[in-house]
Order: sequence, then C-alpha cells, then structure tokens
Amino acid sequence: MIEVYPDLESLSRAAAALLVEQANLAVAARGRFSVALAGGATPRRTYELLAAPPLADRAPWDRVHVFWGDERCVPLTDPRSNARLAKEAWLDRVPIPGHQIHPLNCALDPAAAARQYEVQLREFFAGQPPILDLVLLGLGQDGHTASLFPGTTVLAETERWAAAVHLTEADLYRVTLTAPLINQAAVVAFLVAGDAKAGVLKEVLHGPRDPARLPAQLIRPHHGELRWLVDLTAASSLTRDASPVQA
Ligand code: 6PG
Repeated sequence: MIEVYPDLESLSRAAAALLVEQANLAVAARGRFSVALAGGATPRRTYELLAAPPLADRAPWDRVHVFWGDERCVPLTDPRSNARLAKEAWLDRVPIPGHQIHPLNCALDPAAAARQYEVQLREFFAGQPPILDLVLLGLGQDGHTASLFPGTTVLAETERWAAAVHLTEADLYRVTLTAPLINQAAVVAFLVAGDAKAGVLKEVLHGPRDPARLPAQLIRPHHGELRWLVDLTAASSLTRDASPVQA
C-alpha cells in the first residue's frame, strides 16, 4: 500500500504512530515487539517523535526489542553510525531495557559481526520463525534498501539472515539484514521523502522487475504487509494507485 503524505513531518508522524501501534498489537498478542530500524537521514524525525509525548507515553517500551536493518562499519560514536542516530534521537530517551537494544557493531570485523548478529537474532527467535514485527526501511537513489546495494553478492543470499557488504566506491563496509530475513517480517514499511527519490520510487514501484539493479524490489514480504510511506515530492512521478493521505 502506498500512502502519500504532504511532507516529511506528516510522514514521520505516521511512521512513528505505526511503530507504536504495531508495538502495542505485538505486545498484546505475544508479549514483546521486535523492530529493525532504518538508517540514513529520513527516519530521524520519526525517531525524534517516538522520544516525545504523546507517543513516548503510549508505547510498551519495556517489551520492545530493537535491531537494525543495517549498519555502517564505523565506531558507534561516528556520525555515520545508524545506531548513534537512533540512540541520540530516540533510544536514549525512552526506557527500553539496555539488553533489548541490539546495535550492530561491525567496525572491527564486518564478517564476524554479521555472523554474530545472526547468532543474536537466532537466540532472540529461539527456534521460532524469525518474524520481525516491523522493519523500517529507506530507499537510496540507486534503488538500494538497508545495505542491499546494486551489484553486491548479498542480493543473491538465500540462507543467511545478515551479511557483510563492501562498498568499493565509499571503501566502506556495512552489515545488512538479508532479503530472506526481511521478507519474513509481519510489517515492512519504507519511508521515502524528497524529490530526489521521485525517479527511483517510480522505477521500484511501477517499473519492470529488475532487483539486481533495484534491490528494493527484493522486498516482498511472504506473509506480511508491505507499506510505502512517502511524501508528495517523492511521489511526484507516481501516477496511479498512490492514495493521498490527509495529514
Ligand atoms: C543506510 C540506510 C539506507 C538508507 C537509504 C536512504 O544505512 O544508509 O539503511 O538504506 O535507508 O540510503 O537514506 P536517506 O534516508 O538518507 O535518503
């Protein structure tokens, strides 16, 4: 489902409300809520809204478990760190028990960090199907999501739940959840804002299927819900089936 919001602020309010709604539903049904967070700049405002009233008072934080959809392999203090972004904007401001927040620290050894993250996820799911209650994702202008970048071998991964990725141009390692794991989620929500994303959003949603070039097209939840929360500028190239949402 494609939801078009007037601007980033209203998109962020909807995304933050979605997380709180899903958290309360999951906790009521299964006693806990697991979320994998998106990195990059778009979700910052969503995270800030989750740290402030009214939403900060409406979530069962003591039952929330936080993972990341991907991480840059830099120190957690580095401004490029996705964990640093979420902790500063949100997680350090709400009472989620520390042992329920699982940053992905891959600065020293990306491959080992990916293996360790999968161990953490397997321990968390304890033999049950690895169904994350919510996965937040962004969309890069090159069609990547999480750290599933065009031309990387992780796109072909069918078994592992996490993998290290080397971005040659940036000479940067990342660790990402893989499409097989993301596609088991109960809800996957893309947050896409800005006119710079208009072209790629149209290609991903309405263009030919070409996940090698547009890895975001790999994300097709097997049983879960796929939601696109986009702002007007990002949706400016979409024509049909984008349902404008009143702010
Ligand atoms: C990352 C993200 C990445 C991001 C997109 C969009 O670590 O960079 O996980 O997938 O979501 O690149 O980034 P922006 O929101 O900054 O446009």
